[in-house]
Amino acid sequence: MPRLPKNLYNPISLIGTGVALVSFGTVVVFFLMDVLGYTTSPYLGIFTYMLIPGIMILGLFLIPIGAFLERRRQKKHGTERRKYLVLDFNDPAHRTALMIFTVVTMLLVVVSAAGTYQAYNYSESVEFCGEVCHVVMEPEYVAYQHSPHARVRCAECHIGEGADWFVKAKISGSYQVYSVLFEKYSRPIETPIANLRPARETCQKCHWPNVFTGVKELSKTYYPIDPTETEPWTIVMNLKIGGGQSELGPTNGIHWHMNTANSVHYYATDNKRQEIPWVEATDLAGKTTIYRSTDSEYDEKAVSKFEKRRMDCIDCHNRPSHIYYPPFRTVNDAMALNHIDSTLPNIRAVASAALTQEYRNKNEAMRMIPSFVRRELKTHAPALMAAKKNDVDRSIREIQSIYTRNFFPEMRVSWEHYPNNIGHTFDMGCFRCHDNKHVSDDGKVITNDCNVCHTIVVQGPTRDPKQDMRGMEFVHPADIDEAWREVPCANCHLGV
Ligand code: HEC
Ligand code: HEC
Ligand code: HEC
Ligand code: HEC
Ligand code: HEC
Ligand code: HEC
Repeated sequence: MPRLPKNLYNPISLIGTGVALVSFGTVVVFFLMDVLGYTTSPYLGIFTYMLIPGIMILGLFLIPIGAFLERRRQKKHGTERRKYLVLDFNDPAHRTALMIFTVVTMLLVVVSAAGTYQAYNYSESVEFCGEVCHVVMEPEYVAYQHSPHARVRCAECHIGEGADWFVKAKISGSYQVYSVLFEKYSRPIETPIANLRPARETCQKCHWPNVFTGVKELSKTYYPIDPTETEPWTIVMNLKIGGGQSELGPTNGIHWHMNTANSVHYYATDNKRQEIPWVEATDLAGKTTIYRSTDSEYDEKAVSKFEKRRMDCIDCHNRPSHIYYPPFRTVNDAMALNHIDSTLPNIRAVASAALTQEYRNKNEAMRMIPSFVRRELKTHAPALMAAKKNDVDRSIREIQSIYTRNFFPEMRVSWEHYPNNIGHTFDMGCFRCHDNKHVSDDGKVITNDCNVCHTIVVQGPTRDPKQDMRGMEFVHPADIDEAWREVPCANCHLGV
């Protein structure tokens, strides 16, 4: 019976062979389980495409190492005299060894190519990004699942196409895996804005400025925090989206900044890009206008030390996918949809308070929210509690559900930590520049005119609002005189 070269018969090579064979078998079984869909565990991928193949390769390495050590040992004892490997095709042992070697190498090349491809796919999958580091990524993952981008893979925004970003992402990704394993990450996770790939290489693969068009209707009903002061109020407004192609509609409007021939550059003096004292606009004709903050502390030298940035999608749509809504938004919307019963006394304030209590973790929140809401409602209207038991129960369920989508106490995540730049109600957003306080040398200001970005077409008490398709002047739902003209909304509106 033909045998293999003697060198291979040593404990290390044998252990290596055993390890490689067992891991190979395991990979095959796991691979079949994955393909046939026997399990949906996100960890299966890590084992099948990363850990076990790693062990298999280690095992394979052990075989030549064992052979090498064995030869050294034999040399020392004088049983081996030849310096280099001699292949003798007349020797059946050598023929068998060569055949096994060739077949195994070919198999390995095929398997490892497939494996690498799978490992690559897997490391880019939503499963790997969102589920494996469960606690750490939970906020981003849960918010993502409820966002308009729930079917867009994490990697399409965070990595994009091309080899250079792939490598960058894998390097920083390896650090992230390390930081999760050793709990080196911060809570909440800091936003990687400085490292995000430019939007033109990610967002614009799917949305490109030429195809934005027309207007988008925003329709809101607001329930007062203090129902004795004001009544429910409705606003319907048309947001002037605008686009880059005149055949499809007006080219001015909000996406003016993104119109391919216009550009806006700015300096931000903080790492969340919330303070923007210097803005430069270049129009279609190439004319530039520089707007400077009229803030008394403005200092051009200090400002220009920061990085000058060209405005892109992310400067407004910074939360396209991980949107943590403030109670102001969620509670009002749930009441408008009657998921929370708006006839319960003081329910908006009670719901907001229930959501913003300090809870140590999600379980505690789920336990405490019902008792908190019942206790508060009881103090307002004890008699109602029995009569409206079902409505109280469904309202509580909705409040709990709002909590699970928007609050992540383990990671200290909520709307408060991540400013959202799309509007101007709770965060400065558009008003970082459009605040009437950015002025050019010839006296032009970046406009704060309420009708530039939207027109209000319906407004007033919900039972009988006014309508005017030509648009009307804003009336603030609560009586604050004309303060809304001077003070940024976000100074008073904190989100609750
Ligand atoms: C539609 C594009 C998009 C998709 C899809 C997306 N992200 Fe993000 N992600 C962003 C943007 C943009 C930011 C930066 C937010 C900012 O600047 O405020 C971000 C930030 C983050 C952050 C930093 C913390 C934070 O909330 O700012 C983490 C972590 C993250 N994403 C993880 C994920 C994971 C995991 C997935 C997939 C489950 C995913 N992302 C899918 C666009 C996306
Ligand atoms: C892989 C394709 C893809 C990428 C990349 C992508 N999006 Fe989207 N985006 C979509 C799809 C699909 C929708 C949902 C369209 C719909 O529901 O009509 C959407 C919807 C949106 C909306 C509308 C949301 C709403 O409330 O209706 C905005 C805004 C948006 N994306 C911004 C972005 C930004 C900013 C980026 C880059 C960070 C981005 N998208 C990257 C595919 C993508
Ligand atoms: C001086 C502080 C202040 C400023 C500035 C301000 N608001 Fe208000 N706003 C209030 C108060 C107080 C209420 C009443 C809250 C309640 O009892 O319901 C309110 C209520 C509202 C409501 C009804 C929803 C609610 O919470 O009851 C809307 C919508 C609103 N404000 C929008 C705006 C917008 C948009 C701006 C900026 C253009 C703005 N506000 C500026 C203080 C302010
Ligand atoms: C100046 C701020 C700003 C910039 C820059 C910007 N957008 Fe928008 N975009 C908005 C606003 C505001 C809306 C409407 C509000 C909303 O949908 O919540 C909007 C709406 C959208 C929509 C939804 C349109 C619809 O009809 O529902 C998409 C998609 C979108 N933007 C993609 C992008 C992409 C991609 C870029 C980068 C090329 C970009 N935007 C740049 C402010 C901006
Ligand atoms: C970094 C500063 C900056 C931010 C942030 C910003 N803008 Fe602008 N915006 C500008 C500048 C500069 C102009 C052009 C002023 C001029 O005419 O020279 C402009 C012009 C506009 C115009 C007028 C376009 C036209 O047709 O003339 C609209 C509408 C607009 N912005 C909407 C928005 C909205 C909505 C947001 C928030 C989602 C926003 N902008 C955020 C700087 C900014
Ligand atoms: C630079 C553009 C811009 C200007 C100027 C502007 N807004 Fe807005 N406003 C927006 C955008 C964008 C949104 C929608 C954000 C969203 O999609 O949730 C918005 C939303 C609102 C809302 C709905 C509030 C909410 O969060 O439910 C009110 C009310 C409002 N604006 C009032 C005003 C008033 C009053 C002024 C004038 C003082 C004004 N806006 C000036 C861009 C602008």
